Amino acid sequence: MIDIIRKKRDGGTLLSREIGFVAAGAASGAIPHDQLAAWLMASWLNGLNLDETRALTLAMRDSGDKFSPARLGKAAVDKHSSGGVGDKTSFLVAPLTAACGVAVPMISGRALGHTGGTLDKLESIPGYRTALSLSEFETVLMKCGCSIVSQTPTLVPSDRVLYALRDRTGTVENPGLICASILSKKLAAGLDALVLDVKTGSGAFLRTYEECEFLAALMVATSETAGTRTVALLTDMDQPLGQAAGNWIELAEAVELLRGNRPPAIEDLRELSLILAGWMIHLGGKADTPLEGYQLAEAALTDGSALAVFFKMIDAQGGDVAVFDGPAAFHKPGATRVVDAWESGVITSMDTTALGWAVQRTGAGRERAGEPVDPHAGIIFHKRRSASIEAGEPIATIFATNEAMLDEPEAILHQSIHFSKESNRGAVVPLVSSVVTREVAAKILAEAQPG
Ligand code: URA
Repeated sequence: MIDIIRKKRDGGTLLSREIGFVAAGAASGAIPHDQLAAWLMASWLNGLNLDETRALTLAMRDSGDKFSPARLGKAAVDKHSSGGVGDKTSFLVAPLTAACGVAVPMISGRALGHTGGTLDKLESIPGYRTALSLSEFETVLMKCGCSIVSQTPTLVPSDRVLYALRDRTGTVENPGLICASILSKKLAAGLDALVLDVKTGSGAFLRTYEECEFLAALMVATSETAGTRTVALLTDMDQPLGQAAGNWIELAEAVELLRGNRPPAIEDLRELSLILAGWMIHLGGKADTPLEGYQLAEAALTDGSALAVFFKMIDAQGGDVAVFDGPAAFHKPGATRVVDAWESGVITSMDTTALGWAVQRTGAGRERAGEPVDPHAGIIFHKRRSASIEAGEPIATIFATNEAMLDEPEAILHQSIHFSKESNRGAVVPLVSSVVTREVAAKILAEAQPG
């Protein structure tokens, strides 16, 4: 291990077997954490090239148990979103895609920092179990076509160790390390295809558009070389997606759409979910084009078949679907405050990372792994970017665990939503700014790293 650390420290390129040694040693505990941390810092500083990134992804994927969807008898396709605020597309794309005949084995994550977590949102349904064994996962998939679960202790154990170390050593933000961490978990589910939703804008995990585009290309190229058809969509996270950001309130918003309702205020959520599901259905072989996939998904939304799949999955995982009979009655936050606009004008920008922290401070999220979250906390944003608003009109409603926890989120809202007196609404930001296929990815990578 000392030789491998020295080689990376001095700018060398590691061989696949050297990277395999690191991933296996991280998983088994054979390599001490101080050496792993030194290797992570050397890799962060000198970077991992395409071959090293691919080798790390595959070695991490193979470091523990894997799921095989072979017995499902249909293509298995998943989606990964790179965080964000109010991003509840999983609750729509999983049942939409499953209703169109493509299996969705979805292994999801928890809230951390300014981004929410699919598992925490689902656990706001009384009884819903996210920690299924791989055989239970298979049973739910066979019965319902989709299942949303947490990572098991034995699935990609190397990432469990390396991610915790990266978190503690300032080595998270590196494209090769991020790519290997995300893809190893997705590829361990034996997917035929994968759709990546890479967020851009003020709420994105990476700061600049170029960094997001490079990461998207790296993940597409790496996943494709691992044998999984992959496409990445660069999507807007310059404002929360939909109106709700929290746990239960996000599920309630998704179910509103699954019921076939179409409130104009959450049209962005509907549209992005249909686009993502369209790609999943296309890559899963059930539609000739992503547009045809979109149309099939839209039909499953309108005829109620996706809602039926979603409720069946919740029931199969122990959740009480009766809570959706009266979503508003079930919602019992500790404290509620309506925040009125503090000036009149047009909303020109929303610092979405800061808004994510406001949501976290209501009690809906966590600062450190392992902390509990409040299922009923969160924020509903009544107004969006480019909207006109009069002072005194409601701009947001905050639901917090208790009265004392209302002030900080409100103060953050004041700092992060900006107005202009001009009638200029700013540039129109497209929901999907780019589609990175394997061909596009190859071009981006060639331009970024000549030779
Ligand atoms: N999510 C992950 O799972 N890993 C990363 O490195 C970053 C985000």
